[in-house]
Amino acid sequence: MEIKTYLNEQRLVIERALEHSMLTAEMEHGVFAHHIEAMRYSLFVGGKRVRPILCLAAGQAIETRPDPDPDLLPIACALECIHTYSLIHDDLPAMDNDDLRRGKPTSHILYGEAGAILAGDGLLTWAFDLLSNSNQSTLTAKKRLKIIHLIARAAGSLGMVGGQALDIANENKEFPFETLRAIHRSKTGALITASILAGAIAAGADQKQQEALTRYGEQVGLAFQIVDDLLNVTATTEQLGKAAGSDASKGKATYPAFFGIDTTRAKAETAVQEALDALILFDEKADPLRAIARYILTRSH
Ligand code: IPE
Ligand code: IPE
Ligand code: MG
Ligand code: MG
Repeated sequence: MEIKTYLNEQRLVIERALEHSMLTAEMEHGVFAHHIEAMRYSLFVGGKRVRPILCLAAGQAIETRPDPDPDLLPIACALECIHTYSLIHDDLPAMDNDDLRRGKPTSHILYGEAGAILAGDGLLTWAFDLLSNSNQSTLTAKKRLKIIHLIARAAGSLGMVGGQALDIANENKEFPFETLRAIHRSKTGALITASILAGAIAAGADQKQQEALTRYGEQVGLAFQIVDDLLNVTATTEQLGKAAGSDASKGKATYPAFFGIDTTRAKAETAVQEALDALILFDEKADPLRAIARYILTRSH
């Protein structure tokens, strides 16, 4: 499997599903049109769609189902809505104060701060609308509730939001390694792990498989943020579609700040190897998950 082709195909699947599930014509043309436009702007302006792709790939690792699996698509879309909301708020002046994202002006540059905050709020809430809408899925209510709960946990104060708070609180501070690890685990690892588990649970993963995929998700999530830190130092703004060098200028708690570039790269490699080891009990249906883990090390943006 050529990973680039696979990721491109899956990205298009996700984008078609987002287009389909994201807001009715009535909403687009009604009195909320400007607000809806702001939500759509950030959602469709670009993005690798890694979390929804991981969700679909985790489902396929458990059981061969229709690809794409209609029961997984709303979950995958919800994960991308939550992720996009997190980026809109992450870029706000009160947070990382960035004016470029996915190669385009950030939401608050185009829609103002209030517009950007509300676009984020709208996407976050829309995600839970998608997840809880029984018309969208044949999953049992029990399974859907389990998935909603795990995504809520991962996105909220015990996961991504908590990690963002810790990230901001540690700007320009001396920080112990445990803090750095906790930031990465929560601000990035939690939603990535939840994306994988949600797909796996929807597809019927047993307890052992869920535990293995949790280990895989934690290591992939860690590697993903370590590489994000690395690229911030080594890549250009043009490559990234977001400001290069910004972590150092903001005094962010990052792996390169703590360990330097070479050790940081080695730690990303170790995390990917641990992710691959966690998949030992899976057959070739998990090959996309294996390829995604390896891709994280080589990604250029
Ligand atoms: C960026 O996420 C923020 C992090 C958590 C590292 P991505 O690298 O997945 O960003 P997009 O969705 O492709 O723009
Ligand atoms: C973003 O972390 C994490 C979330 C949005 C939850 P960063 O602030 O490090 O990511 P970039 O570099 O702005 O994408
Ligand atoms: Mg940030
Ligand atoms: Mg940021």
